[in-house]
Amino acid sequence: MINTDFYHEPVLREEVLKLLVTTSSGVYVDCTLGGGGHFRMIAEKLDSNATLIGIDRDPDSIRWNQTHKTHGPRSIIEQCRFSRFDSVLAKYRINAVDGILLDLGVSSFQIENPYRGFSYMKDSALDMRMNTDEGISASELLKTESQSAIAEILERFGEVQNAPRMAKTIKDCPFPLETSADLRECLKREYGPNLKIKVLAKVFQALRIAVNDELGELKLFLDKVCKYLQPNGRVVIIAYHSLEDRMVKEFMRSSEQECVCPAGQVVCTCHRHILLKRINKKAIKASENEIKKNPRARSARLRAAQRTQEVLNEEKS
Ligand SMILES: C[S@@+](CC[C@H](N)C(=O)[O-])C[C@H]1O[C@@H](n2cnc3c(N)ncnc32)[C@H](O)[C@@H]1O
Repeated sequence: MINTDFYHEPVLREEVLKLLVTTSSGVYVDCTLGGGGHFRMIAEKLDSNATLIGIDRDPDSIRWNQTHKTHGPRSIIEQCRFSRFDSVLAKYRINAVDGILLDLGVSSFQIENPYRGFSYMKDSALDMRMNTDEGISASELLKTESQSAIAEILERFGEVQNAPRMAKTIKDCPFPLETSADLRECLKREYGPNLKIKVLAKVFQALRIAVNDELGELKLFLDKVCKYLQPNGRVVIIAYHSLEDRMVKEFMRSSEQECVCPAGQVVCTCHRHILLKRINKKAIKASENEIKKNPRARSARLRAAQRTQEVLNEEKS
């Protein structure tokens, strides 16, 4: 790990606290620990009877947060993907929690880190894995995936215009794409030196989402989160791009539905019950003041929902 300041300005801090923490002695999980900004803020609200768990897939985040202990609640820091947060709960024999937070995407530390390849502004190995022990790097992905698969990644995750042309440029590149500078250079040859920063940002975002299977992770998390919330327990999610925000919105909306049988069907056969109640129907956005201080907050969309009262054990069985 390099010796870089891990500071990450937590987004929508007051809103997160207000929506997430309902009891000072509860059990809370921050599934995207990052620089520990939200984690520390939540810890300050909790007392010594509370438990606060911090999870991140990035070993640098884990190491940093382990050496910067918080006071107040019992705190547990574990390296894990949030799609598997239930394995951490099982390890500590916790059945259900009072609140779970997801603050999606990458941390300032990851972006600023000159060795991780997340930023198109820096020259570093084109890696982009949040956990370098898992999966394949962006460089490897561009080497091994087909032109059509790369086009799909660029179009779906980056909304890159004319993605097939860009995918062809990448596949036809005469030199290996090992660093972020290589990728920039390759694209500049085709699109000219004035290749827009906005386009580069989209390309890097698309690759990062693919390399880390970010949407797959979110889907697995949403599929199970309700089972691990206490009655009245809360899930708070901050998303930074529309694909994720749409998934969160759809999930919260459908978890509010009691029956999903086809319209006109007289007898219910789906036997569903309401799992969640949305706390805010519209996504909460950062104020202009916060955006001025922290431009990252501009694209943040926060959604929160509360577990209904059903007996949890029935669902787990
Ligand atoms: C936006 S940052 C969180 C910042 C944090 N809330 C703070 O205030 O310091 C997102 C973090 O989530 C982590 N992350 C992203 N996807 C993950 C996943 N599927 N499982 C675990 N951690 C993940 C990243 O490694 C990164 O550290």
